[in-house]
Amino acid sequence: MSCRGNGGKYPIAIDGTAAAGKSTLGVALARRYGYTLFDTGVTYRAFTLLALREGVPADDEAACVELARRADLRIEGQDETRVWIEDEDVTGRLRDAAVEASVSEYSAIGGVREVMVALQREIALRNPCVVVGRDIGTVVLPDAPVKFFLTASDETRADRRAAQAGTWGQRQDARAATTDIIRRDRIDSTRGALRQPEGAIVIDTTEISPEAVVRQAVEVIECD
Ligand code: DC
Repeated sequence: MSCRGNGGKYPIAIDGTAAAGKSTLGVALARRYGYTLFDTGVTYRAFTLLALREGVPADDEAACVELARRADLRIEGQDETRVWIEDEDVTGRLRDAAVEASVSEYSAIGGVREVMVALQREIALRNPCVVVGRDIGTVVLPDAPVKFFLTASDETRADRRAAQAGTWGQRQDARAATTDIIRRDRIDSTRGALRQPEGAIVIDTTEISPEAVVRQAVEVIECD
């Protein structure tokens, strides 16, 4: 089989559970093809930060949708997705504990998702992109020519999150946080945000290295 480059296939959609290796694969593919990496989770995180700052609770759906519509979010970046709320670069705030604790509630609001999906679509179609999220291949970019769906065992995902943390104490915190993330993934799957797109290439990353995941993905993209 001879592979002749990816033939300009974009956008590339990568969905899957938390800590399954989506971002790692996304960065590698974006670098390989000179595409922009767009991590769509940041839009929900930035909205959550804004809602918390403005004191709009997640159970006030109408106020959340209104806030989403008037929110001035700007997304830029090549290898890393950076976000501005008006003139403020909030990228460094998006993993704050308060955002982490509330983002799944805010991102479950249907009207907020509609606004974010429209924004994501517009950004994703601006430049050749690798787009990472939960519903990219199903909702945001159902016509994407290449779709991946990444999974890994709960234990592996917990270990990966813990390994990213520095000290023993941080690792214990990371384990607790991961248990919560896994619980949230289950909520995401049952309410429909996280679904395997039809025609997606499924890669279970439990037993394989990041390099091997990239090799598998490249083989699919370039030899299709
Ligand atoms: O990928 P992440 O951890 O940054 O995502 C943050 C939250 O947003 C998480 O609760 C899942 C949700 N999300 C979503 O519902 N749809 C997306 N396309 C991306 C993220």
